[in-house]
Amino acid sequence: MYNPPMPSFLDDWSAEFAKAKTRPRPYRNAAVSFRPSSIDDRELRRRVLEETGLNVFKFPAALIPGCDLLTDSGTTTMTMQQWSQVLLGDESYGSNEGYFEFKQQIVDTFGPQWENRNRDQENTFIFHQGRAAEYGLFTCLSKLLGAPGKRAGKKPFYIIPSNGHFDTTQENIEASGFEARNFFSPELRAKDEASLFKGNMDLAQLRALLEDKATMERVPVVYMTITNNTGGGQPVSLANIRATAELCRSHGVPFLFDACRFAENAWFNLQYEPLCKGRSVADVVRLMFEQVDGFHISLKKDGLVNIGGCLVLSERGRMVERYPQLPAMVVGHQLQVEGHPTYGGLAGRDLKGVVEGLKTVVHEEYLAHRINQVRKFGAAVDRACGASIVVKPVGGHAIYLDLDQFFAGTRLRDDQFPGVSLTALLLIAGHRMCELGVYAFGKNVDGTEVGPDPRVNNVRAAVPRLCYEDSDLLSAAEAVGVLYRHRDEIPGIEVAYGQNLPMRHFISRFRFVQA
Ligand code: F0G
Repeated sequence: MYNPPMPSFLDDWSAEFAKAKTRPRPYRNAAVSFRPSSIDDRELRRRVLEETGLNVFKFPAALIPGCDLLTDSGTTTMTMQQWSQVLLGDESYGSNEGYFEFKQQIVDTFGPQWENRNRDQENTFIFHQGRAAEYGLFTCLSKLLGAPGKRAGKKPFYIIPSNGHFDTTQENIEASGFEARNFFSPELRAKDEASLFKGNMDLAQLRALLEDKATMERVPVVYMTITNNTGGGQPVSLANIRATAELCRSHGVPFLFDACRFAENAWFNLQYEPLCKGRSVADVVRLMFEQVDGFHISLKKDGLVNIGGCLVLSERGRMVERYPQLPAMVVGHQLQVEGHPTYGGLAGRDLKGVVEGLKTVVHEEYLAHRINQVRKFGAAVDRACGASIVVKPVGGHAIYLDLDQFFAGTRLRDDQFPGVSLTALLLIAGHRMCELGVYAFGKNVDGTEVGPDPRVNNVRAAVPRLCYEDSDLLSAAEAVGVLYRHRDEIPGIEVAYGQNLPMRHFISRFRFVQA
């Protein structure tokens, strides 16, 4: 066969192509969804905003033509590969096809220690979302330990520490009569912009808790959230995971992950953790998960689906060893509130979608694109403002606007909740973000506002997976820039309803007050 040589200049060209600054997305649109409203419908949004009491959670999503950045949870665009699996869903009541595939995928993704060898006892507990898994786990653990319920009004005996509990986890822990403690890393507390693993556990604080005679018997389990959502979506290093695991091992305490964004956490380790050099994302995931005795996960994040969650316990791990009745109790709980344990509150088709999502999420090209998109968005916000407003380094799933920077030098006080004003005004521009600051995390005790301690005061813009193009996010960044230029004129708000309710930011109504 005649096979002429390729011209040699092609080598140079290839090298030049490789230097291109813009990489294509590792996927293309296979379906799009037209918005029922236009970016120019500002008058309509103004009216509706007033009717909904300026609360972003109550604003109709259909009227958001820009970026809906309220959360990255359950907002994923599923891939065609997932949809094809969804169509093949088996809706049998017991032991549907998806159940077996899901259990196999848990082993394939997280490692061999997650295999269910004991035929008499389940190790993978399916729930309809993350917090349902948390509720199942902590109510059962509470019954086992006889932890006094919060409602009983007694001071909790047991303490559950973490590098940063998510708010639902914290709520579930406290409602079950435990105390939740956050040991944020010193770098996070010091707002160190150069630190690459600000999500880490403060090992000194954990060690003190486990070694102090007054508390050592009071820790039923140690938690780690990867990535650390409450700490700004910041990653946790493999070195910190191993050191935490070692500390737990030496004290005989079980160690669990809240694993929602496990793949994003693995990607950061691949980039910056010397222990992960030369590995694949899939390898790093296994290295992380071989350190823990169990995990729960909201599959609405790195499961790449719109609904789903689970709890997985290692049969040979310390959690099951220390609490041998726990697996049967969790199954009892599932039967009571979710359904048969082989579907656990999900349709058979949902399970098929998750299996495919877990296969996709560890692709390095996907993660590089995802995390770089969030970073570019952060840089675009700073550029649009002409100032450093975004908390650095940018985390995996969201950017956080530092409200103390944003409103520095203006007249607005904390009790005028300028972050709430900012999110309301962004809705008029056509984009949705949410305040996670002195309103969301503060409390009103007998008419007095008590701010979060340590102080947290941000607006979060969480980026849904596989959903927006860079240009969409640039338009949201521009809108933030416009408001930054007018920050002196932004009015404060007063709370018309709900200031003293728990989880108040989800349900309150507000109105603008002109200073
Ligand atoms: N743990 C973490 C770290 C989370 O970020 C979330 C949810 C949950 C648990 C609860 O999972 O929503 O499936 O019940 N985070 C979403 C967010 C809501 O916007 O950050 P869920």
